[in-house]
Amino acid sequence: MFTIDTHTHIIPKNLPDFSKKFGYGEFITLDHHAQGRAWMVQGNKRFREITDNCWDPLVRIEEMKQHKADMQVICTIPVMFSYWAKAKDCLEVSQFLNDDIATTVNNHPDKFIGLATVPMQDASLAIKELERCMKNGYKGVQIGSNVNDLNLSEPQFDEFFAACEKLNAAILVHPWQMMGQEHMAKYWLPWLVGMPAEISRAICSMIFGGVFEKYKNLKVCFAHGGGSFLPTISRIEHGWDCRPDLVAIDNPINPKEYLGKFWVDSHVCDHKMLQYIIDLVGADKVVQGSDYPFPLGEAVPGELVRTAPLSNENKEIIMGSAAKTWLSL
Ligand code: CO
Repeated sequence: MFTIDTHTHIIPKNLPDFSKKFGYGEFITLDHHAQGRAWMVQGNKRFREITDNCWDPLVRIEEMKQHKADMQVICTIPVMFSYWAKAKDCLEVSQFLNDDIATTVNNHPDKFIGLATVPMQDASLAIKELERCMKNGYKGVQIGSNVNDLNLSEPQFDEFFAACEKLNAAILVHPWQMMGQEHMAKYWLPWLVGMPAEISRAICSMIFGGVFEKYKNLKVCFAHGGGSFLPTISRIEHGWDCRPDLVAIDNPINPKEYLGKFWVDSHVCDHKMLQYIIDLVGADKVVQGSDYPFPLGEAVPGELVRTAPLSNENKEIIMGSAAKTWLSL
């Protein structure tokens, strides 16, 4: 079974001190404090500890053998998006990250597929960087679930989505800067509550804002099984039905009509939930995604799908062929 893990993160081993360079902000730096281990540092806070599988392609390839993963889609860690920075500085950070991913992909083209990061706070710079990356073998782009609290339905993103459609760039929407995080830091709630809500926010915004109507060939995949969108789709439809004056103001179409028109990854941590999302969007719109190499991701990427009570045909679709369609491989 040919397997593509569509949701994995990578970071360059060495990051410039962008805060020092630009003279402001809390850009991430890496503190390699022990062999194969580094702290991601934001300002003076330790944000997360990472290990060498986060930056070393050879370590990743070794682990992919153990996990029976043939290929990984690699993209940056969302905290690196830096949409809050000045656009030209964010472009510089993005280019640094993208060049590192391009090197990894070019050195191991049979193992890795690249998704770019772009300065979403400035559509024209974002489009330029996406064009540069797509010329260099990238298959698409990873974007945040919001851009500095703006929803993806805002007109300022239209040009960017038009460019993605024109360039045939796959889009991975990943949660970040989780809503309400300043009010719920305890118990890791931004990750456990905020992340699923962020993805539902992104899908609802794109549906109700008519983004999928304007750009019918857009190839969007939403992380974490589409977050809380699919589990609450009937409530969302009910809201659209009972208060069209609030919900259906920019797009009259029932949100359920969009099921099967975008992809979601398989990282839902539960066989029944996996079956449920397959029932809603179709196996050909579910791609295996693990969130490797982070602890909240799948410990053994692909295991949920491999051990699920699904037909072999559906497993093959989810483990590989659905991703080939999403990424136009
Ligand atoms: Co992720």
